[in-house]
Amino acid sequence: MVASPDSSTQSTQSISSNFTKPAWFRAIAQPANEFPLTPLSVVSGELPAGLQGSLYRNGPGRLERGGESVGHWFDGDGAVLAVHFSSEGATATYRYVRTAGYVVEDALDQFLYGGYGMTPPGALWERWGKSVKNAANTSVLGLPDRLLALWEGGNPHALDLEDLSTVGRDDRQGALSDNLAYSAHPKRDPITGEIYNFGLTPGLNSTLNLYRSDRTGKILQHTTVELKGTPLVHDFVLAGRYLIFCAPPVQIKLFPVGLQLQSFSDAMQWQPQQGTQVIVIDRESLTEVSRSTADPWFQWHFSNGYEDVEGHVVLDVLRYADFKTNQYLQEIPTGDPQTSTKATFWRVRLDPQTGKVLSQEELLDRGCEFAVVKPHQTGQEADAVFLNIHRPEANPQRELFGAIARFSPETQDLTVADMGSDRYPSEPLYAPDPHDPNQGWVLTVVFDGTTDTSELWIFDADGLDREPVCRLQLPSIIPHSFHGTWVAGVTS
Ligand SMILES: [Fe+2]
Repeated sequence: MVASPDSSTQSTQSISSNFTKPAWFRAIAQPANEFPLTPLSVVSGELPAGLQGSLYRNGPGRLERGGESVGHWFDGDGAVLAVHFSSEGATATYRYVRTAGYVVEDALDQFLYGGYGMTPPGALWERWGKSVKNAANTSVLGLPDRLLALWEGGNPHALDLEDLSTVGRDDRQGALSDNLAYSAHPKRDPITGEIYNFGLTPGLNSTLNLYRSDRTGKILQHTTVELKGTPLVHDFVLAGRYLIFCAPPVQIKLFPVGLQLQSFSDAMQWQPQQGTQVIVIDRESLTEVSRSTADPWFQWHFSNGYEDVEGHVVLDVLRYADFKTNQYLQEIPTGDPQTSTKATFWRVRLDPQTGKVLSQEELLDRGCEFAVVKPHQTGQEADAVFLNIHRPEANPQRELFGAIARFSPETQDLTVADMGSDRYPSEPLYAPDPHDPNQGWVLTVVFDGTTDTSELWIFDADGLDREPVCRLQLPSIIPHSFHGTWVAGVTS
């Protein structure tokens, strides 16, 4: 982009510097606007008749307040998109989660709290004792009577499934009292409907809280396991009879965090000499089976896991060589990231009785993230993984993901849906056909930087190399989001 030849004034300089920023930045440059339940118009194609239910997605809706920018992309206030599909068509709404911190900051239009990547404003003595704001911005969990907005540092928030109005902080009938953490990557067993999740309580040796809930989200079982040090754990794996945790060698220095001298993000140290802790949990008793130390790697996410015929556990993981990804994500709100980082798709096989890694193999050497499987294959061998992937020519230091793909770990077949230049798809989610869960659709929210609009694109899950079967116009820009879910049969 060519800058204006007249750069003598401050405003022109500001505009010129914005011109150098990638197109994706315009989706997050301004706080997002909410909208009430609104019928969606079809841009192309037609809605599949079998697509009946609701798509929910969560992510940071605003990255500044009162002219101040957040410290990290993870600090933005959570805002949730719902798209309801029925025989009448599709309607959507987009709402911020009214956490206590959001309500107070919104009234005063200024940041008051610390977060994952920021300390509270003010002099040091003014910061002491101030709590961290629950950003409620990472994912959602669909329950029969509520939608939970999830954030890994504290309690979830309950929302109305239809209009996304905030009910309030939800401690699951006291099971998460004292603001116990309930992380953003719960796993639902497709056969029993049981929901597994975890939450960390930081300490010199952090406590890993393990939760098992019934299909309504009622927590039936809670156990604890002690971790070594204070690692960052964002996701885990349900694999047959086991839950697997891989705690990367990222250690949080608690002293400066406790004194509000540093944010969590700034107080994290990459210590590869410690290796990755592998902890195997029996899913029935929620007790430790084994643990071992593996090569150092970092992951935010897994795609899935299963037990193979030999009784070994297979994990599919989006694996980074180091922790530079955190710096890259911190730089996203500037629109000018300087840090190169890359996750690739790995398969790790381990012995659950010892926790020892038996083999590890990179199956896909393309920058990718946000991998999901068909929900009915969670914890079992999956025939397909749907993920975000970089376009071949993309500079991963400058670009967000510009494509989605279907990847088969078994055959390593890769089918890419390239969105074209300056278009940015969200995490692709799989919505099964109610008559055959192996057939279905892949839904992704696309920010189109050529028109500065957002659309919902719906692909046939087996046809990512074809045009989307339907494109829906969304009423306003939806900022890039983190995670979501599909809930069958909830219609407006
Ligand atoms: Fe995540």
